[in-house]
Amino acid sequence: MHIDELDTPVLTVDLDALEANLDRYQRYYDEHKIGLRPHIKTHKTLAIAHMQMKAGAIGLTCQKIGEAEVMAGGGITSDLLIPYNILGQQKLDRLMALARQAHVTVAADSDVVVRGLSAAAHAAGLTLGVVIEVETGSNRTGVPTAEEALQLAQLIDKLPGLEMRGLMGYPTPPEARPIFQQTIDLLDRAGLPHPIVSGGGTRCAFQAHEIPELTEYRIGEHIVGGVGHLLAGRHTVEQCALRVIATVVSRPVDGRAVLDCGSKTMSATILQTENGPSIGHIVEYPDARFYSFSEEHGHVDVSACARKPVIGERVQVIPVHPCPCVNEHDELIAVRKGQVEAIWPIYARGKIR
Ligand SMILES: Cc1ncc(COP(=O)(O)O)c(C=O)c1O
Repeated sequence: MHIDELDTPVLTVDLDALEANLDRYQRYYDEHKIGLRPHIKTHKTLAIAHMQMKAGAIGLTCQKIGEAEVMAGGGITSDLLIPYNILGQQKLDRLMALARQAHVTVAADSDVVVRGLSAAAHAAGLTLGVVIEVETGSNRTGVPTAEEALQLAQLIDKLPGLEMRGLMGYPTPPEARPIFQQTIDLLDRAGLPHPIVSGGGTRCAFQAHEIPELTEYRIGEHIVGGVGHLLAGRHTVEQCALRVIATVVSRPVDGRAVLDCGSKTMSATILQTENGPSIGHIVEYPDARFYSFSEEHGHVDVSACARKPVIGERVQVIPVHPCPCVNEHDELIAVRKGQVEAIWPIYARGKIR
């Protein structure tokens, strides 16, 4: 089937671009002897996860237990990292069930989380690997100092059911190096292990080697790009593998085109750019501005386009943020040279718990 025969709006991924991205990044991490641990929150798709493992990934990152359950259920059990504080009996019960099925490591940044993990693992008769999240500039989660990381490491070491596996941070630009160095120094002096030192983020993916302490790196968006990466020069239009194919459903005035892809197709993410808000980049009309949406309508300013789209015309849109866009869809259509090669269920969509 040719992509022109697909009903719109529809989410597609270009396999040549996807494979080239996969290869480009895997090669860099292999060259620098840093483990690549792709984050599946971007594609949420078993088929792509299997491709990543086959290409040389050391394991996967899954932001939520639900995503990890999907990956383990699909046969990827060798090494899953959940870089998220897990709290509450229901999640802890699921985590223990997962840990029976797969090699799992979880992150923690407080004694509350660590004690909960220990109680659950001890009661289940399991040993659970834990990495300490350190704050590396996102002002999100993560202990802010090496001293606090040491205290947490000592607690992990002391409590039953847990194994101290190291450190993680997000994002990890080169400036994040000192907290890793300082924490490793304290852990070494205390004789505590840190086999995993995990960095992450597509933005600085090719600078991972500037933090030689990193043993591995977590990235998700690298595999498909997105408008932010396009504008920053990290991905070309061709390297932006994820595309929504949409139809122009209205041209109510000369300067405006309306697409059949609104927030329920693109996600509600708006990227603020130099040229104003952006919902996506229209490949065939680079001068168009996809500036707003309603649920099922994409509002596009086409006044700057020399040639303007007509009603019924189909366009390809690169979403601003691939991860929530994928999360809006049941299926990802894998395409090569305009032909549909596979239809992949997005099994981990909506797995927010
Ligand atoms: C903990 C963690 N690690 C890694 C990543 C991957 O980063 P990116 O989406 O820039 O590839 C994210 C992204 O949100 C994250 O939250």
